[in-house]
Amino acid sequence: MARNSRRTVKAMLESKPVRFGIVGCGSASIPVCEAIMASPLTDLTAVYDVNEDLANDISQRFHVQKMGTVNELLTDQLVDAVYIAVPHYLLAPLTQQALEAGKHSLTEKPLAISLEEVDQLIKLAIKQQLALGVFYEMRYAPAHASARELIQAGAIGNIIGVQIQTLIDKPLSYWQAGYTGRSRNPWRGIKAQAGGGVVLMNTSHLLDALAYVTGLMVTSVSAEIGTLVSSVEVEDTATATLRFNNGAIGSLIAGAHINGAHQEEYFNLYGTEGQLRLPDPYGSDPLRIYLRRAWGDFPAEQWHSIPTESVSVYQRAIEDFVQAVQSKGCVPIDAKAARQVLAVVLGIYQSAAEKRTISIS
Ligand SMILES: NC(=O)c1ccc[n+]([C@@H]2O[C@H](COP(=O)([O-])OP(=O)(O)OC[C@H]3O[C@@H](n4cnc5c(N)ncnc54)[C@H](O)[C@@H]3O)[C@@H](O)[C@H]2O)c1
Repeated sequence: MARNSRRTVKAMLESKPVRFGIVGCGSASIPVCEAIMASPLTDLTAVYDVNEDLANDISQRFHVQKMGTVNELLTDQLVDAVYIAVPHYLLAPLTQQALEAGKHSLTEKPLAISLEEVDQLIKLAIKQQLALGVFYEMRYAPAHASARELIQAGAIGNIIGVQIQTLIDKPLSYWQAGYTGRSRNPWRGIKAQAGGGVVLMNTSHLLDALAYVTGLMVTSVSAEIGTLVSSVEVEDTATATLRFNNGAIGSLIAGAHINGAHQEEYFNLYGTEGQLRLPDPYGSDPLRIYLRRAWGDFPAEQWHSIPTESVSVYQRAIEDFVQAVQSKGCVPIDAKAARQVLAVVLGIYQSAAEKRTISIS
């Protein structure tokens, strides 16, 4: 809460709570509904899902009205903003519908499966003067904020190398019903519906967090992808070499079926004056830093551990979005940030398909 750019808590509480409607009541919606209920800045007023059982479940769990159609939810006067969490190919069309209906939209990542869709949504949100946020909540992990401050202050000097890894041990049943089995639908493994596999689904979070922490942009990629364990249409394994706009070089490895992997989604940053090892945002390990020269209280030539506090990244993401809605200000995780991530992911797919290095514009 100590961020200067945020409005004071008092000012936010004095505004009326932002009333959310939920479109899509699958796995992703549960922690988000909990965070909306927990925040004094938000109310949950309506839910909708094509799967009536799941809509009923959320309606009963959170004592909120279930709508019969998406249109009913989008025209309801008690809904100011919608959170949209549906299969990837439906994110952009439903976000478009929400914006056209005059609702602010907080849409799940990756927002869309093509850059053209993202560009149209950016234009539409500007035209409608509505907030359009994307739910890349992982950037709010406390270690990311600390790493960002250290980098901005110059603690590790100029970044020369980046190592990104997304190693997950997913059960094969994941492709049919996600981790939880809450919604049995094979969309995650169908290319036209998911847009991509482990890189789009999981590494996208790290690409967003990396841009947030370092301010660096990927300028080219050279990649290989494969479907090596499962029998789906999207990749379950990927590697890539990345070049960044400051000249730094990076490597990325992603795997959905890495035996024994546990909390191994993170990135390391190598600088001219030290290095930072970010912990898995889902775990409780500390941020680790090595310094070539002394920095504040930290002596030189040693590793230091910086403990991370426990926060609800979901609530932080929602409250920052609400702040933008209430103040008509900039959305912190906006469609442009999501576009940057999607451009890198699509570049990885194109590079693998065409066996060449792809420039990211
Ligand atoms: N930010 C995160 O940490 C996080 C975590 C998990 C998933 N996600 C994202 O959330 C989104 C949904 O993923 P999920 O795991 O909840 O999937 P899911 O399959 O569990 O849920 C999707 C839900 O959308 C519903 N649906 C389908 N078509 C619809 C329509 N036209 N109108 C309304 N509802 C419709 C389905 O019935 C289902 O209940 C994806 O974009 C995914 O990448 C984000």
